[in-house]
Amino acid sequence: MTTHDSAFGLTFPPDFLWGAATSAYQIEGATSEDGRGPSIWDTYGAVPGNILGGETGTVACDHYHRWAADLDLMKAMHLNAYRFSVAWPRVMPGGTGPVNAAGLDFYERLVDGALERGLEPHVTLYHWDLPQALQDVGGWAHPDIPHWFAEYALAVAQRLGDRVASYATFNEPWCSAELGYHVGRHAPGLRDLRTSLLASYHIHLSHGQAVRALREANTRAELGIVLNLYPVDAATEADRETAALVDEKINRWYLDPVFRGTFPERAWAHYGDAVPEIDPAALAAVCQPLDFLGVNYYFRQWVSGNEVRRSGPPGAGTERTAMDWEVYPEGLHRLLLDLHREYPAPRYLITENGAAFDDVFGNGRVQDDNRVRFMRTHIEQMHRAMEEGVPVGGYFAWSLLDNFEWAFGYSKRFGIVHVDYETQVRTPKASAEWYARFARAQRGVA
Ligand code: NOJ
Repeated sequence: MTTHDSAFGLTFPPDFLWGAATSAYQIEGATSEDGRGPSIWDTYGAVPGNILGGETGTVACDHYHRWAADLDLMKAMHLNAYRFSVAWPRVMPGGTGPVNAAGLDFYERLVDGALERGLEPHVTLYHWDLPQALQDVGGWAHPDIPHWFAEYALAVAQRLGDRVASYATFNEPWCSAELGYHVGRHAPGLRDLRTSLLASYHIHLSHGQAVRALREANTRAELGIVLNLYPVDAATEADRETAALVDEKINRWYLDPVFRGTFPERAWAHYGDAVPEIDPAALAAVCQPLDFLGVNYYFRQWVSGNEVRRSGPPGAGTERTAMDWEVYPEGLHRLLLDLHREYPAPRYLITENGAAFDDVFGNGRVQDDNRVRFMRTHIEQMHRAMEEGVPVGGYFAWSLLDNFEWAFGYSKRFGIVHVDYETQVRTPKASAEWYARFARAQRGVA
């Protein structure tokens, strides 16, 4: 195959980031090593019925011990960036107070190891693993948590410093607040709308406070936030109003405070008495200049009657993943154009994009042609948006490895590299080989 074929005719800037993404709890394991404190996912996972098959992240992909080989995999794939998260309970086992040096040592080794292999480290500070000690006093519903979060962020930045290319404060805060505090399908498993909205407000304040603290500390790394965002489509004219509300509840509830310092009005009115008492000046201060917006894109929201579907328009004509999510690459193009128009950022990073598919084994390998097609078509749509003027700086495949898919345990495989959980053997799937050829062609590596 020629270089040109591998790049399938698309040209990206030479410094474009081609990466893969992971998160601490989903891959590290080693949950009680080197002074790590318990997190809300340890607690939640220990309750029967919360996680499919009773699985937990206690061992996961054993990345805590296998990190060097995992970095080697990305180097061999010609990637130039790695997005991972730091576990707050490793750094501050009690959530506040003393820093656990051994926890930071691990991330320092990881960052240096990434740099040695030509991978830019992109760090997420919070990917859902809150120290249990903080949950014991209310977690994201506690009014002091913005201060605690900023202290934790500073502790990380002081150690990892300017070796890190970017810090994202939060990953998908909607999931933490809505799934964790309202729907109860994520840790800590609460089911209360009022608490969930209060949590979302405090997450926003935490973001603003951490960004200010990191800027004041002269952190040279780029600063941003990672949101889960979706085009929202109405099945019929009659669904338009609901679709607009869904858009505000899922997308704009997180975009507006960060980019405008306000909450969106329709959703605010809809929540009625459940909304938190807010300090408008504090909310305004959530809006801090950012260097990038991280976009996690998986599917669109399809609104039909009273239903909000992830599986897209009904019927067999729609391709769906093993999560029953619609495959809708055009949504990435639409989303990027909408964001660029309404929420301009200096640059956008596609911090997650990918799919779970059931493995198709043949000759000892995983022939995941569906995932190859998924990645290729989404990268094409991202390229289209860039040609139309959206400043996109990178693409991170979710995920480097098959891993702990939260309430689904290990049943859903998102990796471009297959993990045998019995032996911990890693086997690059056809998608990893495809991505490697593509990244090599794009980066002009011989
Ligand atoms: C987004 C989350 O950030 C990640 O943790 C999760 O595994 C993927 N979506 C797939 O559901």
